[in-house]
Amino acid sequence: MSVHIAAKKEEIAPVVLMPGDPLRAKFIAENNLDNVRLVNSVRNIYFYTGTYKNVSVTIGASGMGCPSIGIYSYELYYEFGVQCIMRIGTCGSYLDSIPLFKVINTDIAFSESTYAKTAFDYPEDHFYHQGTAFDIINQTAAAMNIPILSGSIHSGDAFYRADRELPAIAKANKCLAAEMEAFALFANAKYFKKTAAVLLTVSDNIITHQVISSEERERSLTTMTRLALEAAHKIHEAI
Ligand code: HPA
Repeated sequence: MSVHIAAKKEEIAPVVLMPGDPLRAKFIAENNLDNVRLVNSVRNIYFYTGTYKNVSVTIGASGMGCPSIGIYSYELYYEFGVQCIMRIGTCGSYLDSIPLFKVINTDIAFSESTYAKTAFDYPEDHFYHQGTAFDIINQTAAAMNIPILSGSIHSGDAFYRADRELPAIAKANKCLAAEMEAFALFANAKYFKKTAAVLLTVSDNIITHQVISSEERERSLTTMTRLALEAAHKIHEAI
C-alpha cells in the first residue's frame, strides 16, 4: 500500500495502462481482461488487475493534469516496482490536418509546467518517452495495420487558456496536440529509470472545434485500447 493506492504490492502488474478517467479504466478492464479484480478505489481512482492473453496487466486511472498523474506514477514506480506505465488518453489537435480519432504515439512532451523542476530540480521544458515502449508501440501498430502518428505534444497546465489555439511553446516546437499529463509521467520515469509511453486519441480539434460525440468516443478509443493491450503484452516480454 502507498499513500494514494490501497493495493498490495503483488496486486499491481509490472505493466500499467493508465487512462485519465476511472470509469474508462473500469470499462477497458472489464471488457478486455480475464480474471479481473478491483485493486484500488481510494478517491474513486480505480485500478484493476487481470490478465491479457495470459499476461498480468493493471489498468488504473491517473486523474487529470501533471500533479495527479505525478502522484500515481511516482507511487507505482517507487512503491509497487512497476516497470512500464503507458498513458492511454485523449488530446486536442493543434493542426486542422489531423483528423478526429487519429492515434498519436508521443515522442516528446513539451510543457510550461513546473512539475519536473519542483519534484526533481529538472530544468527542462520537455522530456522524451522513456525506454523501449515507444518503439514497441510503433512496431505493434505496423503489425496490426493501425496507422498512427508519432511526434511532439504539449502537456498544458490549463485546459482553458487565453492562448488555447496555439500556445507559444506548442508553436515553437511544432506540437501536434494538447493534453495535460505526459510531461509529468516522462519526468517521473526518467527519475526512476523506468519505461513510459503516452498514446493519445484525438478527441477534439482545437482549430476546427470538431469534437467526437460520446458514442463515437467509445468506438474511437477501441483502436487505441487494442493497440495498447497488444503493445503491453510485448513490453511485458521485453522488460
Ligand atoms: N486540451 C488539453 N487536454 C485535452 C484536450 C485539449 O484540447 N483534449 C483532450 N485533452
